[in-house]
Amino acid sequence: PAPGWSIEADVVVVGSGVAGLTAALRCAAAGRRTVVVTKARLDDGSTRWAQGGIAAALGDGDTPEQHLADTLVAGAGLCDEAAVRTLVTEGPDAVHRLIRTGARFDTAPGSDEIALTREGGHHRRRIAHAGGDATGAEISRALVEAVRAAGLRTVENALVLDLLTDPDGHTSGVTLHVMGEGQHDGVGAVHAPSVVLATGGMGQVFSATTNPAVSTGDGVALALRAGAEISDLEFVQFHPTVLYLGPEAEGQQPLISEAVRGEGAHLVDADGTRFMVGQHELAELAPRDIVAKAIMRRAHEQGVEHMYLDGRHFGAQMWETRFPTILAACRSHGIDPVTEPIPVAPAAHYASGGVRTDLRGRTTVPGLYACGEVACTGVHGANRLASNSLLEGLVFAERIAADIAEGPAPASATHPDPALTPAPATDPAPASAPRTTLPLLAPETRTAVQRTMTAGAGVLRSAGSLAHAAAELDRLHREATEASAGTTHKSPEPGVEAWEATNLLCVARVLVAAAQRRAETRGCHWREDHPDRDDASWRRHFRITLDADRA
Ligand code: SIN
Repeated sequence: PAPGWSIEADVVVVGSGVAGLTAALRCAAAGRRTVVVTKARLDDGSTRWAQGGIAAALGDGDTPEQHLADTLVAGAGLCDEAAVRTLVTEGPDAVHRLIRTGARFDTAPGSDEIALTREGGHHRRRIAHAGGDATGAEISRALVEAVRAAGLRTVENALVLDLLTDPDGHTSGVTLHVMGEGQHDGVGAVHAPSVVLATGGMGQVFSATTNPAVSTGDGVALALRAGAEISDLEFVQFHPTVLYLGPEAEGQQPLISEAVRGEGAHLVDADGTRFMVGQHELAELAPRDIVAKAIMRRAHEQGVEHMYLDGRHFGAQMWETRFPTILAACRSHGIDPVTEPIPVAPAAHYASGGVRTDLRGRTTVPGLYACGEVACTGVHGANRLASNSLLEGLVFAERIAADIAEGPAPASATHPDPALTPAPATDPAPASAPRTTLPLLAPETRTAVQRTMTAGAGVLRSAGSLAHAAAELDRLHREATEASAGTTHKSPEPGVEAWEATNLLCVARVLVAAAQRRAETRGCHWREDHPDRDDASWRRHFRITLDADRA
């Protein structure tokens, strides 16, 4: 659609979680005219939902080296060690800068020291938390307040559609669809030579997820359409302990933080037996792919749908002070963790892959950056270590702002060329993926995509399940193509819901293609038909761009 309005800026940041708002604040502090655009309200993304905390070597006796070692083990041979080293060495100072920006973390009783907990895969207490189990909400509050105090220009309810590029292929802004924001209503554009994608994840590609409804893979879809390289999309992390609300439960599900296990809760099976002991030296605190697999295995063995997390020994006071959010969520569903074990099962939680970046957050498209969950910086490899995601968003957002600040000073306040040049939808491709650009999908297709993905590309995958998912996704794509050509169904009206469904199908098809190709089990990618890790063949990344030939 043709933009009806435009804004001129030096930097447009797309997304308003920890990564987006940190990038925006630092770019503005460096004197760059910065606009934040976000799909819902400023605090509506995944950051607000983060419970356990933010990992950094802050405690006595802990070191970045030990944090590095734990991150590499969790990443199952696919982490980029330089990226991890950057994360863990710059992490502690970045957390202190976040505190200076206004975030308040819990402190140890009777001291000013930050209280630290443990989570899966960490050999030390190194997770800082806030409000007990409301860490993301506190970080979001502090950053939103800082953005408002700094007077940054923000556009809410704005779904970004596509990247704009100038004739030599350099980023020149984005088009976006805004709902009900006065002068910015409808389709418009922000012109800027630097675009920072911080759009978060894609959990909504599955039926049950810890992610909010807005996590529809918009950034990855945009980057694919713009010709950027995507990597590691097959590595979807399933959080092991999500409140189990029945086989029909769909959409965002309540998370039961790893920190509950970090403080000593036990996983027990249908008979009340602890089943992680003896499976891994860290028992319930093994890396989360191992815990998720163990839960699924034991559930299959026992012919049940879920396991239990038993924290009754914490007592009411600890539940109320340390885990108030989780306690309230459980009780609102009729489960009282003080007196009964919590039914839990894995659900989609985090995209370890995304838009590939270097250590400065640059993607393969000049002027396009990515940070936070939408990015693949290389720190997570095949399985993200718990609580490394807020840290990654923070550290790499600051690096992007530094890179932009080091670049040429902004030329002028007016855009030299008001003519818009939408990015071509079919850039040449070094690797292959199904073409996933428009036609628009009907909003109700979202559920069909989600069910297909959960059935065929969820925790357990096989060649058969993935082939079935691929065929079903192709069918949805074909139907939409035929509808847009007017041969069968009616094409849907353009709008946020239709674009979200289109983006979900786009990322789902690429994800399934990557999962089909990786014929091994590694990290959070679990192939029943290839149960072992195969370092000889598969210790490598799939870098994907759109393949026009396979349209
Ligand atoms: C949790 O609190 O368990 C979530 C932490 C994370 O996903 O890093």
